[in-house]
Amino acid sequence: MTEHRHEPPLAALPPFAPGFRWGAATAAFQIEGSTGADGRGSSIWDTFSQTPGRILEGATAGIAADSYRRYADDIALLSELGVTDYRFSISWTRVQPDGTGPANGPGLDYYERVVDGLLGAGIAPLPTLFHWDLPQALEDAGGWLARDTATRFADYVALVLDRLGDRVHRWITLNEPAMMTLQGYALGTQAPGRALMMGALPTAHHQLLAHGLAVSAIRANSTAEVGITNNHTLVVPASDAPGDQLAAAAFDLVYNRIFADPVLAGAYPDLSAFGIDGFPGVQPGDLELIAAPLDFYGVNFYNPTRVAAASAGSEFAAAGLPFEPADFVDVPVTGFGWPIVPSAFADVLVGLQDDYGDRLPPIVITENGASFPDVVVDGAVHDVERIAYLDAHLSAVRHAVELGVDVRGYFVWSLIDNFEWAEGYTQRFGLVHIDFDSGERTRKDSFDWYRGVIAAQSR
Ligand code: FCB
Repeated sequence: MTEHRHEPPLAALPPFAPGFRWGAATAAFQIEGSTGADGRGSSIWDTFSQTPGRILEGATAGIAADSYRRYADDIALLSELGVTDYRFSISWTRVQPDGTGPANGPGLDYYERVVDGLLGAGIAPLPTLFHWDLPQALEDAGGWLARDTATRFADYVALVLDRLGDRVHRWITLNEPAMMTLQGYALGTQAPGRALMMGALPTAHHQLLAHGLAVSAIRANSTAEVGITNNHTLVVPASDAPGDQLAAAAFDLVYNRIFADPVLAGAYPDLSAFGIDGFPGVQPGDLELIAAPLDFYGVNFYNPTRVAAASAGSEFAAAGLPFEPADFVDVPVTGFGWPIVPSAFADVLVGLQDDYGDRLPPIVITENGASFPDVVVDGAVHDVERIAYLDAHLSAVRHAVELGVDVRGYFVWSLIDNFEWAEGYTQRFGLVHIDFDSGERTRKDSFDWYRGVIAAQSR
């Protein structure tokens, strides 16, 4: 169980400012199912999840949380929760089955139904335009290693804007490009499963270029607000030894700074620690596009990361990496085994403020949450550990606000249990439990807790 070691529980803190956005988040591939419906094309996650050995227990997302069919139930849950906003993602392959060409009408119809349902319930839609489900046809043409994928993304965004731009007033371009690059292309633990190590670097730039092109498409066609979502971790060196300190700084580069510096400071960080001179693939004008001012900066936070110098002979050293992961000592963990250190969240937020200063737009926490092995007993799920995690992390956010960080919103990951990527259905993050056989939705105790927080904060 988490202790409130650094901040008092949320109820003891002053409320967030009026107008603070309260939300919950999901992503298309993780919740929708109906992967063959209405002309949807295949994405890299369809391919990856159908490849034996890639996903725990061989799970696929063919049904997932069945939200393609049950979206109205989910909107009813959001209403009951009292959120002001819902963050969901739009699947590129529903809009353009092969990632190019004209719009697939029935795919856009679905997102129009979702958006209209939300607006009808008084909830602001916050769609993410890309949450990892790249069309397989584009991967076959090079995926994010190909610069052209950024141009394709801008075309897709224009089709979405054309249909929904009159009703959606806030967009997120990309979700966690760092994970796409690191897990998808460098390590190969997630789709598309390429293990290119530092050869994956161009995928970072091409995603950020896609972000920049999408921002200019949105600016040219609407007055909507736009931001990006990056995930951030607090990197903690395993000791004061210079090797561990250098290792931590190097890890911070690949996880945080490669993806934040271009957006918030207009330049890539120095990668000489990896023997790299200049970021690959950058052309004149790219950084200006990538660094265009944003209305908000989305931050996903789950846990800090402890890092040590790569030990001689380790797989990390063999791969030319200066770091290797190290476990925290005596720190509680989530069901995923992720360390629970709420104060690290405040440290990340204050660190962003210190590092980027006036260039940092207001922050929106676009994901925060924890998985635990929840079970339904007599129609209830007593997820006390999740409540403790969320309470302590929201307190940390409130603490960061107290320290001068401009945070404007907070979204729990996730509204409902869902397909947790390579972990399949083994990690439950929802405020609502899903029975993946029947689709039945059961509110967890954390749902009631969050509803209470929103109600008390909105008073
Ligand atoms: C984030 C992803 C999200 C979810 C959570 C647990 O990295 O953006 O889709 O899987 O982790």
